[in-house]
Amino acid sequence: MNILKNISLKKYNTFGIAANAKRFITINSVYELQQLLKIEKNIFLISGGSNMLLTKDIEQLVTHINIKGISIDKEDHFAAYITVNAGENWHDFVLWSVSQNYGGIENLSLIPGNVGTCPIQNIGAYGVEVKDTITQVEALEIETGKLVSFSNIACKFGYRNSIFKNAVKGKYIIISVSFRLTKNEHNLNTSYGAIEDKFALKNIKNPTLKDISDAIIAIRKSKLPDPKKIGNSGSFFKNPVISKLQFLELQKAYPKMPNYTVSNDEIKIPAGWLIEQAGFKGKRYGDFGVHEKQALVLVNYGNASGKEIYQLAQNIQKSILNIFGISLEIEVNVI
Ligand code: EPU
Repeated sequence: MNILKNISLKKYNTFGIAANAKRFITINSVYELQQLLKIEKNIFLISGGSNMLLTKDIEQLVTHINIKGISIDKEDHFAAYITVNAGENWHDFVLWSVSQNYGGIENLSLIPGNVGTCPIQNIGAYGVEVKDTITQVEALEIETGKLVSFSNIACKFGYRNSIFKNAVKGKYIIISVSFRLTKNEHNLNTSYGAIEDKFALKNIKNPTLKDISDAIIAIRKSKLPDPKKIGNSGSFFKNPVISKLQFLELQKAYPKMPNYTVSNDEIKIPAGWLIEQAGFKGKRYGDFGVHEKQALVLVNYGNASGKEIYQLAQNIQKSILNIFGISLEIEVNVI
């Protein structure tokens, strides 16, 4: 087993934070992972590194999950059942699905990260969440090395949430994810305003999966920073859900406050709007700041430390609490 010493993690996390790993190993197969678990259980997992903010060096053995492979388990007239290994790049999998005319994840185009981590935070965008296509998640239990399957229901998916962030956090290593993707009668989701605008512009009346994927890639590129150029982890905070009562009070002072009904007495407010109102949008402090086109995204312009970015996040949380009485919850995993 090839354990490397003192490795910079800068290229292994999309925030581009130069924290160090005292020891580092790349895992290319389930067998290698099982062998590793026999000798070491105190590991720190890194996959696409797209949802973490590293605020310190890592003492545990940093284990880079790089298990590749896609297999079509079965197909019928309606659907394809596909298992994808954890180390596959998420966006490459989306593009492949679109090219095969397999539907269900086209709205999740261009989300950074790997397939193995998509269930953990139940990635979502433009009206679609990955939970709607996942049939099963296979994982190794760290303590025993045993292979365990989680059905969709067992994953306890919620908004940017799952059992892997809660009851079994840190206990399993996801090795593959299985999906059911449509082959005919795709359930297209094009209701998001910006998607409709793109189609109107191109006079597209019956969009294909590729039309949707292309539109979303263009929308994301216009709003969200490319982690290869500017370090970031996508939305840093979750969109907060407040009571209808609190919303009606706030609406008196802020009549333009955007809002989405969650239930009879709960309203979701876009955190990006709150952060923009608080004056943080586009603010740059040295090598870090708040993205100029989407205030929900914190960015590293080069050599920021995780501590600096975390400090900024805390300042934003304080400010939003003072102004609006709303607590912003951090979505990214702060290490
Ligand atoms: N808004 C502002 N200012 C901003 C940003 C947003 O006023 O700087 C307002 C917009 O005007 C709009 C509303 O907030 O009315 C919603 O904005 P947007 O459509 O950009 O979506 P979001 O709620 O900010 C969420 C997801 C994104 C996902 C988009 C599109 C969360 C935490 N974020 O953002 O996910 O791409 O919807 O579906 O739910 C991610 O999780 O990393 C991510 C990028």
